[in-house]
Amino acid sequence: MKKYAIILAAGKGTRMKTDLPKCAYPLLKKPMIAYIVEHLYKSMMFDELITVVGHKKEVIQEILNSTVKYAIQKEQLGTGHAVLAAEKYIKDEEGYTIILPGDMPLIDDLVIKAAINEHLEFRHDLTVVSTIVDDPFGYGRIIRDEAGYLNAIIEEDDATKPVKAIKEINTGIYVITNKYLVPSLKKITNNNSKKEYYLTDIVKIMKDEKYLVGTFLLDKSSKAMGVNDLYTLSEAETILRGNINKELMKSGVAMINPKTITIGQNVVIDENVVIHPNTYITGNSHIHRGAIIGPNTEIHNSIIGEGVTCKHSLVYNSEVKKNSVVGPFAHLRDGAVIGENNRIGNFVEVKKSITGDTFKASHLAYIGDAEIGKNVNFGCGSITVNYDGVNKYKTTIGDDVFVGCNSNLIAPIVIEDNSIIAAGSTLDKNVPKGSLAIARAYQINKENYLRKPKKINEK
Ligand code: UD1
Ligand code: CA
Repeated sequence: MKKYAIILAAGKGTRMKTDLPKCAYPLLKKPMIAYIVEHLYKSMMFDELITVVGHKKEVIQEILNSTVKYAIQKEQLGTGHAVLAAEKYIKDEEGYTIILPGDMPLIDDLVIKAAINEHLEFRHDLTVVSTIVDDPFGYGRIIRDEAGYLNAIIEEDDATKPVKAIKEINTGIYVITNKYLVPSLKKITNNNSKKEYYLTDIVKIMKDEKYLVGTFLLDKSSKAMGVNDLYTLSEAETILRGNINKELMKSGVAMINPKTITIGQNVVIDENVVIHPNTYITGNSHIHRGAIIGPNTEIHNSIIGEGVTCKHSLVYNSEVKKNSVVGPFAHLRDGAVIGENNRIGNFVEVKKSITGDTFKASHLAYIGDAEIGKNVNFGCGSITVNYDGVNKYKTTIGDDVFVGCNSNLIAPIVIEDNSIIAAGSTLDKNVPKGSLAIARAYQINKENYLRKPKKINEK
């Protein structure tokens, strides 16, 4: 029996009123659709994982890459029409398919597993996942008969006042036995107020055929939150942020004013870490024990070593090793690897460079495409001149080098161990081991140069 999953992500997201297709919108810097795919992967092995794309499909395809297969829905004529776009993939008649909307980022693998179990255990032909919410506005309402069995789903726009008062809603997740899927989808019409092919009509269609249609009532309704506009997006993000922060705090991460702290879902933070306000840690980042992060810091796809302090700074795709101090106002990016016990201080940018242990660049420096040894001091205002307008070049600095303030190291250049660069030097030649390099105009003092002050009536 084969297992299929179909995610619907072809819609424009008209209610978002923005250019980005809805399912590409990020929460905690990760696109909505990526959460759904990750949870599907976590729940079980599917034989086919298909995403229906249409409006701005390249954007969704760029996010999901080859983690899923794609079905194209050229025109967005409704959710029922969207599922039909994946028809060619659904080959095994005996198998089943779980269908999920691409706009429910708070879903998790447990819900997916539970819905499928319910479907198999009760031998349903169709299982609709429902939940009860305080404010059902915008959702399809679950209509039950007197005996309590699911009868139909009625959409907001087609609902009468008594139907609108129903608080049990359709989450948009369905599990369906394959043999009934395509024939039932083909019976859906667009005879409703929006003139769309509603997937929800499948309930009535399958009931009329006397197939076994059941529900699975999800007790935690927040997991099924559908994001249709930017306000709901922010609400979903707040819930997700709160859940992640709570878990972390319980596992030994101290957070000062946690409402202002955003930690992505794939971030790992060890015990005994302190995070200060207005801090973002996202992507595949790992923060090791004893680190103190923030305030006002962004860390993305980066590794922060044990005992590191990093405040008022940006760290992207980089690594900072043990006991180093970063910031205030430092910017590490594109594969910067900062050694142990470094000090990367005020207004220092490090790009694609490796620094040895006890390296110091305390103020106002740019270090790009460099490889730097141990115990190097990089003076205030010094820079690696790595770019000639066309190509980038490498700077290599050995151990125990002192780079005086305001030096320009024009790459490609090698500065060997134990050298000193005089402040204000512009170097375009290598410096041999143990040398003092001076490359600046010498100072001349012209004594008694001061002119006499001008007299007011002087002719
Ligand atoms: C849908 C359900 C509603 C349910 C709610 C749960 C229908 C008719 N209604 O309403 O009962 O309570 O979800 O959140 O199904 N999509 C396509 N192609 C289309 C139209 C939509 O791929 O032609 C995709 C969208 O990108 C989206 C998903 O399907 O990811 C759901 O569409 P949306 O317009 O958000 O449906 P709702 O109005 O929320
Ligand atoms: Ca929706």
